[in-house]
Amino acid sequence: MRPTLAPLAFALSSLAFAAHAQTADNPVTGKALFENTPGTSGKAGITMSCPACHGSVQDRRIAISSATGGAADSNADISFDAAMTRFTQALTNQPDMRPFQALDLQQVRNIAAYMADTPKTTPTSETQLNFSAALTGNSAAQTVTLRHSTAVNENLQVTSVAAVGTGAANFVLGKAGCEGVTLTPANSCSITVTYAPSTSVVSTPDLVFTMKQGASTTTFERVLFLNGSIASTTPPADESGGGALGLGWLAALGGAVAALARRRRA
Ligand code: HEC
Repeated sequence: MRPTLAPLAFALSSLAFAAHAQTADNPVTGKALFENTPGTSGKAGITMSCPACHGSVQDRRIAISSATGGAADSNADISFDAAMTRFTQALTNQPDMRPFQALDLQQVRNIAAYMADTPKTTPTSETQLNFSAALTGNSAAQTVTLRHSTAVNENLQVTSVAAVGTGAANFVLGKAGCEGVTLTPANSCSITVTYAPSTSVVSTPDLVFTMKQGASTTTFERVLFLNGSIASTTPPADESGGGALGLGWLAALGGAVAALARRRRA
Protein backbone atom coordinates (compact mmCIF):
# COMPACT_ATOMS: atom_id res chain seq x y z
CA MET A 1 0.00 0.00 0.00
CA ARG A 2 1.38 3.40 -0.92
CA PRO A 3 1.77 5.99 1.83
CA THR A 4 -0.42 9.02 1.41
CA LEU A 5 1.23 12.18 0.18
CA ALA A 6 -1.13 14.45 2.06
CA PRO A 7 1.10 15.04 5.11
CA LEU A 8 4.00 15.98 2.87
CA ALA A 9 1.89 18.38 0.86
CA PHE A 10 0.65 19.89 4.06
CA ALA A 11 4.13 20.25 5.51
CA LEU A 12 5.30 22.00 2.36
CA SER A 13 2.36 24.36 2.24
CA SER A 14 2.87 25.25 5.89
CA LEU A 15 6.39 26.36 5.12
CA ALA A 16 4.92 29.24 3.20
CA PHE A 17 3.34 30.83 6.23
CA ALA A 18 6.18 33.20 7.01
CA ALA A 19 5.85 34.86 3.63
CA HIS A 20 2.21 35.90 4.01
CA ALA A 21 1.10 39.29 5.18
CA GLN A 22 -0.20 39.06 8.73
CA THR A 23 -2.93 41.65 8.40
CA ALA A 24 -5.44 39.10 7.13
CA ASP A 25 -5.03 36.84 10.16
CA ASN A 26 -8.12 37.08 12.30
CA PRO A 27 -8.23 35.84 15.91
CA VAL A 28 -12.02 36.26 16.03
CA THR A 29 -12.42 33.84 13.11
CA GLY A 30 -9.76 31.70 14.78
CA LYS A 31 -11.84 31.53 17.95
CA ALA A 32 -14.86 30.34 15.99
CA LEU A 33 -12.70 27.74 14.23
CA PHE A 34 -11.18 26.60 17.53
CA GLU A 35 -14.53 26.20 19.27
CA ASN A 36 -16.50 24.69 16.38
CA THR A 37 -13.99 23.33 13.93
CA PRO A 38 -16.31 21.21 11.76
CA GLY A 39 -19.03 23.85 11.46
CA THR A 40 -16.79 26.88 10.95
CA SER A 41 -14.23 25.29 8.63
CA GLY A 42 -16.72 23.46 6.42
CA LYS A 43 -14.01 20.89 5.67
CA ALA A 44 -14.93 17.28 5.02
CA GLY A 45 -13.36 14.80 7.40
CA ILE A 46 -13.19 17.15 10.37
CA THR A 47 -15.58 15.85 13.02
CA MET A 48 -14.05 17.18 16.24
CA SER A 49 -13.30 20.61 17.68
CA CYS A 50 -10.12 21.62 19.50
CA PRO A 51 -11.66 21.71 23.02
CA ALA A 52 -12.67 18.05 22.70
CA CYS A 53 -9.05 17.12 23.40
CA HIS A 54 -7.56 20.33 24.78
CA GLY A 55 -10.33 21.74 26.96
CA SER A 56 -9.68 25.42 26.31
CA VAL A 57 -7.46 27.83 24.43
CA GLN A 58 -5.79 28.68 27.76
CA ASP A 59 -4.62 25.05 27.92
CA ARG A 60 -2.98 25.45 24.48
CA ARG A 61 -1.38 28.78 25.45
CA ILE A 62 0.21 27.09 28.46
CA ALA A 63 1.47 24.25 26.22
CA ILE A 64 2.88 26.60 23.56
CA SER A 65 4.52 28.90 26.11
CA SER A 66 6.13 25.98 27.95
CA ALA A 67 7.29 24.37 24.72
CA THR A 68 8.95 27.59 23.52
CA GLY A 69 10.90 28.43 26.67
CA GLY A 70 8.31 30.51 28.49
CA ALA A 71 6.43 30.05 31.74
CA ALA A 72 3.49 27.62 31.98
CA ASP A 73 1.17 30.62 31.94
CA SER A 74 -2.07 31.04 30.01
CA ASN A 75 -1.42 34.83 29.96
CA ALA A 76 2.07 34.45 28.50
CA ASP A 77 3.12 36.60 25.58
CA ILE A 78 2.90 33.99 22.82
CA SER A 79 4.05 35.21 19.43
CA PHE A 80 2.11 34.40 16.30
CA ASP A 81 5.18 32.61 14.95
CA ALA A 82 5.46 30.40 18.06
CA ALA A 83 1.76 29.48 17.85
CA MET A 84 2.05 28.79 14.11
CA THR A 85 5.17 26.66 14.53
CA ARG A 86 3.80 24.54 17.39
CA PHE A 87 0.40 24.12 15.73
CA THR A 88 1.79 23.09 12.34
CA GLN A 89 4.23 20.69 14.02
CA ALA A 90 1.34 19.14 15.96
CA LEU A 91 -0.70 18.86 12.76
CA THR A 92 2.20 17.04 11.15
CA ASN A 93 3.31 14.87 14.08
CA GLN A 94 0.24 14.13 16.24
CA PRO A 95 -1.76 11.25 14.78
CA ASP A 96 -4.87 12.48 16.66
CA MET A 97 -4.66 15.81 14.84
CA ARG A 98 -4.25 14.54 11.27
CA PRO A 99 -7.88 15.21 10.30
CA PHE A 100 -7.14 18.93 10.79
CA GLN A 101 -4.69 18.85 7.90
CA ALA A 102 -7.83 19.44 5.82
CA LEU A 103 -7.88 23.04 7.13
CA ASP A 104 -6.66 25.55 4.59
CA LEU A 105 -3.66 27.73 5.32
CA GLN A 106 -5.67 30.83 6.21
CA GLN A 107 -7.76 28.80 8.68
CA VAL A 108 -4.59 27.46 10.28
CA ARG A 109 -3.22 31.01 10.50
CA ASN A 110 -6.46 32.31 12.06
CA ILE A 111 -6.36 29.58 14.73
CA ALA A 112 -2.70 30.42 15.44
CA ALA A 113 -3.64 34.10 15.70
CA TYR A 114 -6.29 33.16 18.28
CA MET A 115 -3.84 31.09 20.31
CA ALA A 116 -1.42 34.07 20.24
CA ASP A 117 -4.20 36.51 21.15
CA THR A 118 -2.90 37.69 24.55
CA PRO A 119 -1.97 41.27 25.54
CA LYS A 120 1.03 42.54 23.60
CA THR A 121 3.40 45.47 23.75
CA THR A 122 4.96 47.35 20.85
CA PRO A 123 7.94 46.99 20.82
CA THR A 124 7.46 43.37 21.88
CA SER A 125 8.15 42.27 25.43
CA GLU A 126 11.78 41.58 26.34
CA THR A 127 12.99 44.11 23.78
CA GLN A 128 15.79 46.34 25.03
CA LEU A 129 15.20 50.06 24.52
CA ASN A 130 18.42 52.05 24.32
CA PHE A 131 18.68 55.67 25.42
CA SER A 132 21.49 58.17 25.52
CA ALA A 133 21.64 61.56 27.20
CA ALA A 134 24.20 63.84 28.77
CA LEU A 135 24.29 63.95 32.55
CA THR A 136 21.34 66.12 33.69
CA GLY A 137 20.16 66.14 30.07
CA ASN A 138 17.19 64.45 28.41
CA SER A 139 17.11 61.71 25.81
CA ALA A 140 14.55 61.62 23.04
CA ALA A 141 11.33 60.07 24.32
CA GLN A 142 10.39 56.57 23.15
CA THR A 143 6.83 55.30 23.07
CA VAL A 144 5.67 51.87 24.27
CA THR A 145 2.15 50.71 23.47
CA LEU A 146 0.15 48.01 25.25
CA ARG A 147 -2.69 46.41 23.30
CA HIS A 148 -5.41 44.20 24.75
CA SER A 149 -6.38 40.90 23.12
CA THR A 150 -9.02 40.96 20.40
CA ALA A 151 -11.13 37.80 20.70
CA VAL A 152 -12.12 38.26 24.36
CA ASN A 153 -15.19 39.53 26.19
CA GLU A 154 -13.39 40.84 29.25
CA ASN A 155 -11.60 44.12 29.73
CA LEU A 156 -7.96 44.45 30.69
CA GLN A 157 -7.06 46.59 33.66
CA VAL A 158 -3.54 48.05 33.70
CA THR A 159 -2.79 48.11 37.42
CA SER A 160 0.68 49.66 37.22
CA VAL A 161 3.46 50.80 34.92
CA ALA A 162 6.89 51.16 36.52
CA ALA A 163 10.62 51.19 35.95
CA VAL A 164 12.05 48.67 38.41
CA GLY A 165 15.73 48.02 39.05
CA THR A 166 19.14 49.65 38.78
CA GLY A 167 18.98 53.32 37.85
CA ALA A 168 15.18 53.35 37.62
CA ALA A 169 15.10 56.91 38.97
CA ASN A 170 17.00 58.09 35.89
CA PHE A 171 13.96 57.35 33.71
CA VAL A 172 10.87 59.52 33.48
CA LEU A 173 7.70 57.70 32.50
CA GLY A 174 4.77 59.55 30.93
CA LYS A 175 2.37 56.81 31.99
CA ALA A 176 -0.91 58.55 32.72
CA GLY A 177 -2.37 57.17 29.51
CA CYS A 178 -1.95 53.58 30.72
CA GLU A 179 -1.64 53.30 34.48
CA GLY A 180 -4.99 52.57 36.09
CA VAL A 181 -6.61 52.49 32.66
CA THR A 182 -9.10 49.81 31.62
CA LEU A 183 -8.78 48.65 28.03
CA THR A 184 -11.69 47.17 26.15
CA PRO A 185 -10.91 44.33 23.71
CA ALA A 186 -8.48 45.28 20.90
CA ASN A 187 -7.83 48.69 22.42
CA SER A 188 -4.47 50.05 23.38
CA CYS A 189 -2.74 52.64 25.52
CA SER A 190 0.69 54.23 25.23
CA ILE A 191 3.36 55.57 27.53
CA THR A 192 6.52 57.53 26.87
CA VAL A 193 9.92 56.81 28.34
CA THR A 194 12.66 59.42 28.64
CA TYR A 195 16.14 58.94 30.05
CA ALA A 196 17.00 61.95 32.19
CA PRO A 197 20.09 60.91 34.14
CA SER A 198 20.74 62.81 37.34
CA THR A 199 23.51 60.36 38.25
CA SER A 200 25.96 58.42 36.09
CA VAL A 201 24.93 55.12 37.68
CA VAL A 202 24.45 52.28 35.19
CA SER A 203 20.76 52.54 34.30
CA THR A 204 19.27 49.22 33.28
CA PRO A 205 15.87 48.84 34.95
CA ASP A 206 13.02 46.74 33.67
CA LEU A 207 9.94 48.50 32.35
CA VAL A 208 7.07 46.51 33.88
CA PHE A 209 3.42 46.67 32.85
CA THR A 210 1.26 44.85 35.40
CA MET A 211 -2.32 43.95 34.45
CA LYS A 212 -5.27 41.71 35.11
CA GLN A 213 -8.16 40.58 33.00
CA GLY A 214 -11.86 40.70 33.84
CA ALA A 215 -12.79 39.65 37.37
CA SER A 216 -9.56 37.69 37.81
CA THR A 217 -7.42 38.73 40.75
CA THR A 218 -4.34 37.18 39.16
CA THR A 219 -2.01 39.81 37.79
CA PHE A 220 0.49 39.22 35.02
CA GLU A 221 3.23 41.28 33.40
CA ARG A 222 4.81 42.43 30.21
CA VAL A 223 8.45 43.43 30.65
CA LEU A 224 10.84 45.41 28.44
CA PHE A 225 14.43 46.29 29.24
CA LEU A 226 15.58 49.90 29.51
CA ASN A 227 19.22 50.79 28.96
CA GLY A 228 20.41 54.35 29.47
CA SER A 229 23.94 55.48 28.80
CA ILE A 230 25.56 58.83 29.41
CA ALA A 231 26.43 60.55 26.15
CA SER A 232 30.10 61.33 26.08
CA THR A 233 30.87 65.03 26.27
CA THR A 234 34.62 64.53 25.67
CA PRO A 235 36.19 64.09 22.20
CA PRO A 236 36.69 60.46 21.07
CA ALA A 237 39.75 58.79 22.57
CA ASP A 238 42.95 58.96 20.54
CA GLU A 239 43.50 55.48 19.12
CA SER A 240 47.29 55.65 19.37
CA GLY A 241 47.32 56.94 22.92
CA GLY A 242 45.84 54.08 24.90
CA GLY A 243 44.58 56.70 27.33
CA ALA A 244 41.78 56.56 29.86
CA LEU A 245 38.32 55.57 28.73
CA GLY A 246 35.69 58.28 28.85
CA LEU A 247 32.74 58.00 31.20
CA GLY A 248 30.39 57.18 28.32
CA TRP A 249 32.45 54.16 27.47
CA LEU A 250 32.35 52.89 31.02
CA ALA A 251 28.63 53.40 31.37
CA ALA A 252 27.94 51.70 28.03
CA LEU A 253 30.14 48.75 28.91
CA GLY A 254 28.52 48.37 32.33
CA GLY A 255 25.09 48.56 30.71
CA ALA A 256 25.95 45.84 28.21
CA VAL A 257 27.24 43.53 30.94
CA ALA A 258 24.20 44.16 33.11
CA ALA A 259 21.85 43.53 30.18
CA LEU A 260 23.46 40.15 29.63
CA ALA A 261 23.06 39.24 33.29
CA ARG A 262 19.49 40.18 33.91
CA ARG A 263 17.02 38.21 31.82
CA ARG A 264 14.13 37.81 34.20
CA ARG A 265 12.96 34.34 33.34
CA ALA A 266 15.79 31.96 32.80
C1 HEC B 1 -8.39 14.08 18.99
C2 HEC B 1 -7.64 14.88 19.94
C3 HEC B 1 -7.12 16.22 19.49
C4 HEC B 1 -7.84 17.24 18.89
C5 HEC B 1 -9.31 17.24 18.51
C6 HEC B 1 -6.93 18.34 18.72
N1 HEC B 1 -5.69 18.01 19.21
FE1 HEC B 1 -4.08 19.26 19.39
N2 HEC B 1 -2.98 17.76 20.22
C7 HEC B 1 -3.48 16.50 20.52
C8 HEC B 1 -2.42 15.75 21.20
C9 HEC B 1 -2.55 14.33 21.71
C10 HEC B 1 -1.30 16.59 21.26
C11 HEC B 1 0.08 16.31 21.91
C12 HEC B 1 -0.01 16.39 23.42
C13 HEC B 1 -0.44 17.75 23.94
O1 HEC B 1 0.19 18.77 23.60
O2 HEC B 1 -1.47 17.83 24.64
C14 HEC B 1 -1.70 17.87 20.65
C15 HEC B 1 -0.85 18.94 20.52
C16 HEC B 1 -1.26 20.20 20.09
C17 HEC B 1 -0.42 21.37 20.04
C18 HEC B 1 1.06 21.43 20.40
C19 HEC B 1 1.27 22.02 21.77
C20 HEC B 1 2.76 22.27 22.02
O3 HEC B 1 3.21 23.37 21.71
O4 HEC B 1 3.44 21.36 22.47
C21 HEC B 1 -1.19 22.40 19.59
C22 HEC B 1 -0.75 23.85 19.38
C23 HEC B 1 -2.51 21.88 19.35
N3 HEC B 1 -2.51 20.54 19.67
C24 HEC B 1 -3.56 22.63 18.85
C25 HEC B 1 -4.79 22.07 18.50
C26 HEC B 1 -5.83 22.83 17.86
C27 HEC B 1 -5.74 24.31 17.52
C28 HEC B 1 -6.86 21.98 17.64
C29 HEC B 1 -8.14 22.25 16.90
C30 HEC B 1 -7.99 22.66 15.51
C31 HEC B 1 -6.46 20.68 18.17
N4 HEC B 1 -5.20 20.79 18.66
C32 HEC B 1 -7.25 19.57 18.16
C33 HEC B 1 -4.73 16.02 20.28
C34 HEC B 1 -5.77 16.73 19.69
